[in-house]
Amino acid sequence: MEVRVFPDAYGAALYTATLVETTIRQLSSPVLGLATGGTMIPVYQHLVQFHRRGLRFEHVTTINLDEYIGLEPTDRHSYHAFMREHFFDHVDLPLDCRHIPSGATCDLTAACQAYDEILRAHPIDLQLLGIGVNGHIGFNEPADHLKPHTHVVELTEDTIRQNARFFDAEERVPTRAITMGLQSILFAKRIVLLAVGASKAQAVREAIIGDIRTTVPASLLQLHPQVTFVLDEAAAQQLP
Ligand code: F6R
Repeated sequence: MEVRVFPDAYGAALYTATLVETTIRQLSSPVLGLATGGTMIPVYQHLVQFHRRGLRFEHVTTINLDEYIGLEPTDRHSYHAFMREHFFDHVDLPLDCRHIPSGATCDLTAACQAYDEILRAHPIDLQLLGIGVNGHIGFNEPADHLKPHTHVVELTEDTIRQNARFFDAEERVPTRAITMGLQSILFAKRIVLLAVGASKAQAVREAIIGDIRTTVPASLLQLHPQVTFVLDEAAAQQLP
């Protein structure tokens, strides 16, 4: 495991974006596992800037971690809309190479199976992750048991409260999501987890130096051979 600490969130996001660029330039058909959330917005801003200065995405495939259940892809709060707004609409990534779980279907079991097929067909070269204040990755919430494959999850009160900032009111935050499972995440060849801000400091400490346990899903990353935690000083403040 590698831990890189930057003085501020800007530097951490820029470094993360350069890791993505390096992967894109090194491979002929790179597969990126992508995350949403506030932490990732500056990363996508940098990648869009890189694109304007010559970085091409035409040979890239992307696979997002998760989506809310019950929101149409056109809903402005959906992760489909997030990805269009912050990334997809600004780069030359082919439409049929962008994958996000479908949370607006009545057959969620089929949607999960279909997503696992996509994951099997496209092994992820670089997985970008954020981390929840409760230690979740993707929407794999703290629990006694964690699921390996794509599945439906009940969001915890913590997560709903945290994500309410993207909605008009807490009551509007969907209570369920569809997420990639832990095995799919850990199958990525390389994982880069970006965390910024003091609110993430405890989850970061437990993920990096705590025991490996399902109640801190990010601690399972300690089992991965090539994981990089990219932090700002605030997120790193509880590390020795
Ligand atoms: C989003 C996701 C989540 C977020 C996490 C942090 O696709 O998978 O695990 O990365 O909730 O969210 P922010 O960055 O908003 O604090």
